Amino acid sequence: MRTQVGIVGAGPAGLMLSHLLHLRGIDSVVIECRSRDHIERRVRAGVLEQGSVDLLHAAGLGDRLSREGARHEGIELRFAGAAYRVPMTELTGRAITVYGQQEVVKDLVAARIASGGRIVFEVDDVSLHGLDSEAPLIRFRHDGREVELHCDFVAGCDGSHGVSRSSVPEGVLTTYERGYPFAWLGVLAAAPPAVEELVYAHHERGFALYSLRSPEISRLYLQVDPAEDLDRWPDERIWSELRTRLETVPGWTVNTGPILEKSITPMRSLVVEPMRWQRLFLAGDAVHIVPPTGAKGMNLALADVALLGAAFADWYAHGRTELLDDYSPTALRRVWRAQHFSWWMTSMLHRLDGHDPYEARLQLSTLRYLATSRSYATSLAENYVGLPDV
Ligand code: FAD
Ligand code: DHB
Repeated sequence: MRTQVGIVGAGPAGLMLSHLLHLRGIDSVVIECRSRDHIERRVRAGVLEQGSVDLLHAAGLGDRLSREGARHEGIELRFAGAAYRVPMTELTGRAITVYGQQEVVKDLVAARIASGGRIVFEVDDVSLHGLDSEAPLIRFRHDGREVELHCDFVAGCDGSHGVSRSSVPEGVLTTYERGYPFAWLGVLAAAPPAVEELVYAHHERGFALYSLRSPEISRLYLQVDPAEDLDRWPDERIWSELRTRLETVPGWTVNTGPILEKSITPMRSLVVEPMRWQRLFLAGDAVHIVPPTGAKGMNLALADVALLGAAFADWYAHGRTELLDDYSPTALRRVWRAQHFSWWMTSMLHRLDGHDPYEARLQLSTLRYLATSRSYATSLAENYVGLPDV
């Protein structure tokens, strides 16, 4: 097989890159180790920044998003028995849209297939070769056959467990990381949301987040120990813990219902620099991870490939390398802003290791400051809705 850009991974980054390249007349092939059904059902993030929404619209993918996505103009911080609304749109002029990651993935897969795009699902034994030559090669196995995909460039969009990053020779990349002594237990529930906007709750038993997907479906998260076993969390225990951490405001209750899906995700922060080696360009979770508290993961993945799509277009149209050369330093500016914001939100809202009372007091002071200072709240809001230029 031959293509211009070989893309490893059909998450938001890989699929969006393939779509953006198609719009500019550039051919690509996406290879994905899971099935189409699996990637379209995988429940993950749900918050789109204004810039991501704008990108999806500009790429012709805004129809279902406009109909089914919910625009939110604020979020609530709940702490010390009180609730405070951060009026994001009033403070920044921008908003977020709640639209599940798997819906973005479904829209992208449908758009690629409708325009004859090639996505090869259920591949294995993926390996990258000749990345420092002008003729890189991706080898993989599909339907029991060995396949060689020849391309001009490789885009490594294969998430945090992919093969792309580890195909770079030792000593080239530098890793910056931070672990956290907690994880999130996330549930999707057939229960009408009891909130109209997202609620981020600080509680002495740990963080909780009330989010939603539709008027019938709630999405909720609980801070848990990373070693926690999902089997120890029957539905009744999950609801009871959510109620304890969220029902701290008089007269307000969580709406319960059947739990449709639950999973535990460990948390970490990671950046690998640079995001390029020779003819390999890394994007999304393949090269940076954020804890989910700032809702930045999918947005960063989309922002990376918006840059990459423009850079490849300039190379193919004019033979210019400037944008390709600028890709890593430009993307890393946004990545580090999101790293800081996600770390800051995480540190402010979670029960920290050892539950240090000094740090707990600092957290409450920070939350009170947000509730009383317009400029501090504006700082949260502009990071949360996404900064246009970083
Ligand atoms: P991915 O979506 O991970 O896509 C990578 C793709 O590559 C996958 O489809 C994978 O199957 C495929 N792949 C991997 N290895 C190979 C290989 N060798 N060959 C071919 N294909 C391969 N972010 C938030 O903001 N909020 C959340 O609540 C949230 N929850 C999350 C829950 C989980 C369980 C996970 C894992 C992530 C969560 N995130 C969340 C992060 C967010 O979902 C990611 O930042 C986003 O998916 C990044 O998109 P991506 O395209 O870079 O990577
Ligand atoms: C959701 C996920 C997040 O990580 C977050 O900060 C807010 C909302 C969600 O899945 O709805």
